[in-house]
Amino acid sequence: MRKTIKILRQRKGEKESFWQTFLYESEQENVTAAQALSELNQRNPLLDREGKAAAPVQWECNCLQGKCGACAMLIDGFPALACEEKLKDHKDTIELMPLQKFPVIEDLVADRRVLFEHLKEMKVWTEQKQTAAPEDQEKAFTASRCLQCGCCLEICTSYTDGRDFFGMAALVPAARIVTVGKSSAKKEQILEEYRKHFYECCDEFHACEHVCPAKLPLTDLMSYMNMEMKKAGETGGKKDVWGNQSGRKQ
Ligand code: SF4
Ligand code: SF4
Ligand code: FES
Repeated sequence: MRKTIKILRQRKGEKESFWQTFLYESEQENVTAAQALSELNQRNPLLDREGKAAAPVQWECNCLQGKCGACAMLIDGFPALACEEKLKDHKDTIELMPLQKFPVIEDLVADRRVLFEHLKEMKVWTEQKQTAAPEDQEKAFTASRCLQCGCCLEICTSYTDGRDFFGMAALVPAARIVTVGKSSAKKEQILEEYRKHFYECCDEFHACEHVCPAKLPLTDLMSYMNMEMKKAGETGGKKDVWGNQSGRKQ
């Protein structure tokens, strides 16, 4: 296999980015973008297509098994995990860019700390050990599989850093808390955060579900949260979120 890999590069501490192109060949059929990046970085010296010396490409990885979310980047314009994306599924020239909804630290490394800031702001945790009811255990397990990779925010037209909409990367862990939220006060607090930071701004076009590398059923989890909010409203929660009072477009 022979590919041309174009990488959008940015030096640490600098704002300008630039494209650098590398030629890549492999005997193997199922090479991933992560393997190609590792192999490029093992070259000594690393030369670009024009034969000019290039600095090693900075990118993040950890598990290399699609389980940690560290290697999320834009591959031919779509958010994906480099360790899962096979080069053979792309055209002869492949473009790698850092996620664009987050500040770039260097090359393909984006600063995704905002994901955790959102969870902290929503207080997505329980004070004591709690388990889901038997009928909610599958949902709890599903919601626990979120990688916090940020791919859903990257594709989301409603998400812009600094706004109140926190997107699926916050909804999924919040749903996990709701499944185990025996304490109705905790559940009510999380559902109120969900209303503030998700429900009122989601366009429901579901682009997030198409790119989620963990293949989470995001629409189902959203429906679950909406149903729980409805129940909370009906049973005397602070607000009836289905009424005009919620501010949602009718
Ligand atoms: S459905 Fe659309 S607006 Fe809502 S979280 Fe997914 S991508 Fe964003
Ligand atoms: S919901 Fe999917 S795309 Fe979004 S952060 Fe979790 S694993 Fe990544
Ligand atoms: S390195 Fe963990 S998901 Fe790619």
